[in-house]
Amino acid sequence: AQVTISHNNSRVSAVLPTGDSIEVLLHGATVISWKDSSGEERLWLSEASALDGSKAVRGGIPLVFPVFGTAPDHPAVGQLPQHGFARITRWEFLGKSTSEAASDSVKLDFGLSSENLDDKLRSQWNYKFGIIYSVTLERNSLSTSLVITNEGDEPFEFQTLMHTYLRVKDITSLQINNLENSPYVDKVDNLTSKTQDGPVTITSETDRVYTPAGGPKVPIVVADASGQAVYSVVRDTLDDVVIWNPHEAKANSIGDFAPKDGWRNMICVEAGAVKGWQRLEAGDAFEGAQVITPGPL
Ligand code: BG6
Repeated sequence: AQVTISHNNSRVSAVLPTGDSIEVLLHGATVISWKDSSGEERLWLSEASALDGSKAVRGGIPLVFPVFGTAPDHPAVGQLPQHGFARITRWEFLGKSTSEAASDSVKLDFGLSSENLDDKLRSQWNYKFGIIYSVTLERNSLSTSLVITNEGDEPFEFQTLMHTYLRVKDITSLQINNLENSPYVDKVDNLTSKTQDGPVTITSETDRVYTPAGGPKVPIVVADASGQAVYSVVRDTLDDVVIWNPHEAKANSIGDFAPKDGWRNMICVEAGAVKGWQRLEAGDAFEGAQVITPGPL
């Protein structure tokens, strides 16, 4: 059995012989589906999300670059839309590679550079850059990695993040482990700096930027009531993790969020570099990655 890859004008999909599959929209290079070998969807995607390139995708894995949120006080990115331009620009499909055995993994590469930006976005952020984004599907894991290069002759600063919407059965009965003792900024409490005490549970709107105390290699684990891992997320270079769940009221206020009780079935665990700024000198590269391993839903 072989890996099956299909590619049309708007999306690329790949299926392993084991049944694991992914689908990536060229718009934003957004992974919009990841199914495990039992056929279970592992990413949450809003039923009301635009998928036609008119807006950022509400669900899957949108990419945040070069600004997380907005930064009106940071002139270089101050005019950009929320979360930057990577998630609202069409990427190029650069091709695929498969492993030796050609059947147990597939890597899809996508590229974005200054030339892909429309005039308005380029005028808002006029640096020469290149990004290669690789999405690797293996039996029982999904990895995404970014290589960002400065192709101009002046330094630039950026933030980046993989805004992963993980699908869960019922967020109210889950907890997130391995953030104990980690500092975080609470975006729903006036950006107050706090320290995590015990596991994270979702009992109201949650929007926090953690810098996990154990560093990127200690997995952030979404666990069920018995402690069994539903997801484990390991990072490379990306020091921060945003935990976001809009809960009932915020979900109601987001136009493209559907169904309205969909907040029960998702948790965003977002690996990134978003506290402060990454400075990239001319000719330099930044690499960051995550590996997500699913357990039983
Ligand atoms: C999270 C932010 O990463 O993304 C939240 O921390 C934000 O503050 C959320 O609400 C969704 O953003 P958007 O632009 O996709 O609605």
